[in-house]
Amino acid sequence: SFDDSIFEASCSCKTCVMGFMDDDWFVYRYDPTIPALLNRKNSALRRDTHKWWRGLQSSTPRVNYTEVVDQLFSLFPDKEHYSDASPDRCRTCAVVGNSANLVGSHYGSLIDLHDVVFRLNKGPTKGYEKDVGSKTTHRILYPESAVDLDNSTHLVLFPFKIRDMQWLISTFTTRHITHTYTRVKSSVNADENKVMILHPAFIKYVYEKWLLKHGRYPSTGFITILFALHICDQVKLFAFSV
Ligand SMILES: *[C@@H]1O[C@H](CO)[C@@H](O)[C@H](O)[C@H]1NC(C)=O
Ligand SMILES: *[C@@H]1O[C@H](CO)[C@@H](O)[C@H](O)[C@H]1NC(C)=O
Repeated sequence: SFDDSIFEASCSCKTCVMGFMDDDWFVYRYDPTIPALLNRKNSALRRDTHKWWRGLQSSTPRVNYTEVVDQLFSLFPDKEHYSDASPDRCRTCAVVGNSANLVGSHYGSLIDLHDVVFRLNKGPTKGYEKDVGSKTTHRILYPESAVDLDNSTHLVLFPFKIRDMQWLISTFTTRHITHTYTRVKSSVNADENKVMILHPAFIKYVYEKWLLKHGRYPSTGFITILFALHICDQVKLFAFSV
């Protein structure tokens, strides 16, 4: 039921993510209509999504999701991120994992050549530039893995629980949240105009369509790979090993 125009035009890279849309295995899993990033307009959660997401949270506090979303987008950009796919676009992305197998690789300059460089959690660059590169356009984090960012990096929150959204609000305002299930940073240095929040429905989509419901929920690294496949034209993985 896909609209042909979604992938017919594709991109201007040598190979395009959308080029895989003629592959049955890929098409069965890949749903280009799923929103990757949250904004006010797409924030409503279907009943089953809300239930699944709330089910991930050990103690479900009585928090009004609509009000949290409201606060989020009174602080952070409320945009339709990355809705700019076009035949003329070639957005190349590198997803850099935290496996030690990059050490000694000399991949640093190759990684930095990508338009977008995703890094995860506390994955360091300082002191390892030759092997991992120095550019970080997007850092994926959640309260328990937070680090300070420089002002050229997008903070991308993966909200595994509603508390994570509240924490993000707190770090840029009252700084009163210092604890989730463990001690967390109460503030984070980051440009608030570059903050993005993954859509909870995207986590469920990755779990159902790509993990076929194995385990409880997908790992940060795995979600990031899918996130990249949804917003980039070409994706390369570094330091992911099996
Ligand atoms: C959540 O808050 C919104 C806006 O303040 C309100 O309209 C809605 O009824 C509340 N939902 C619940 C379940 O309390
Ligand atoms: C970003 O950080 C750099 C280095 O710390 C600084 O020189 C620059 O002025 C900052 N830019 C903005 C817009 O804050």
